[in-house]
Amino acid sequence: MKNFDFDTPVKRHNTASLKWDRYRDRDIIPLWVADMDFKSPPAVIDALHQRVEQGVFGYGVTPDGLAEVVCAMLANRYDWHIQPEWLVWLPGLVSGLNVACRSVGERGDGVLSLVPIYPPFLTAPQNFNRQLIRVPMLDSGSGWVMDFGMLEKSISRETRLLLLCSPHNPVGRVYRREELVELVSICERHNIIICSDEIHCDLILDVEKKHIPTSVVCPEASARTITLMAPSKTFNIPGLGCSFAIISDAGLRNNFYQAMTGIVPEVNILGLAATLAAYRDGWEWHAALLDYLRENRRLVEQQIGSMDGLVMRHVEATYLAWIDARSIDATSPARYLEKAGVGLSEGSEFGSPGFVRLNFGCPRSLLMQALERMKQAVSG
Ligand SMILES: Cc1ncc(COP(=O)(O)O)c(C=O)c1O
Repeated sequence: MKNFDFDTPVKRHNTASLKWDRYRDRDIIPLWVADMDFKSPPAVIDALHQRVEQGVFGYGVTPDGLAEVVCAMLANRYDWHIQPEWLVWLPGLVSGLNVACRSVGERGDGVLSLVPIYPPFLTAPQNFNRQLIRVPMLDSGSGWVMDFGMLEKSISRETRLLLLCSPHNPVGRVYRREELVELVSICERHNIIICSDEIHCDLILDVEKKHIPTSVVCPEASARTITLMAPSKTFNIPGLGCSFAIISDAGLRNNFYQAMTGIVPEVNILGLAATLAAYRDGWEWHAALLDYLRENRRLVEQQIGSMDGLVMRHVEATYLAWIDARSIDATSPARYLEKAGVGLSEGSEFGSPGFVRLNFGCPRSLLMQALERMKQAVSG
């Protein structure tokens, strides 16, 4: 395998980065918003150079070969055989979550989210006057699980949509086939559409685990599932804004397109060029990335596990660790740790005050420095 350098820090301070600019004048290591501090695959950077070199940035269309590359990727990696027309290109997955809420059901209908959850899952339903129904996940002691009993109890006749995050941000779960089958059968019983955000699907860290798209877990799943995917987490290109929905059911797809009309812009041409290059030529880089992230995860689990007052469960996927810090500060532990020089995401934004989310997608030296600061803060 080629050598890719994930160790050498890339200067991001004062480069108009959301993650780094939050603390531009303070000595705080930013481990919050979910992008990584690594350069993207060389193939992506080369493709962007080539596109920029041409110098004309007019309106675009999806490049030749892109739909075929995405279809082949889904077939090879997930044994999912889709038709190119099921693809709906989007400038972002948050847009996709919002469009899903707008396109399914009516004002006043219920939308389920499993909490803790990536914040837009909590806000998208309300943006379209849907009722958000929060279903807490359970910490089994060895990991986070869905509470099917509570889920079913939370459903009423007005419940039309479930927003699923698989793999789950922030708890890092890779859902097993049995779990997804149970979930789909509950949705089938109550005629609920599933919007399955699978943006983290290529970041499975446990080698024995596999991502299973919700749409393929059982024959009934596909017709009631809107899947959202993107190369943005996989290849660290979220700022290029290119993602897609996969919707096999023509009715659901038409409603989705209709809900986008006049509001959701075309994907930008650099995002499309990067996506094509990433899915075609970025997989060697991706394999090296996963190895690097696995070692970072090991360090995080080991270090956090040794800190008084902090508890975390095993991270099966993503580069995000979900840490119970309630014994340090029950309402805003991120603020407490910020004072110690580490910038984490506040659990309250995910619906769970007293937790923090730590992004370990960064050079190991920076991660170790942040963990050392956290150790000092909790023991001091
Ligand atoms: C589950 C999930 N969905 C969506 C997004 C953001 O997607 P986008 O930047 O394409 O809107 C994130 C980013 O962290 C995420 O974790």
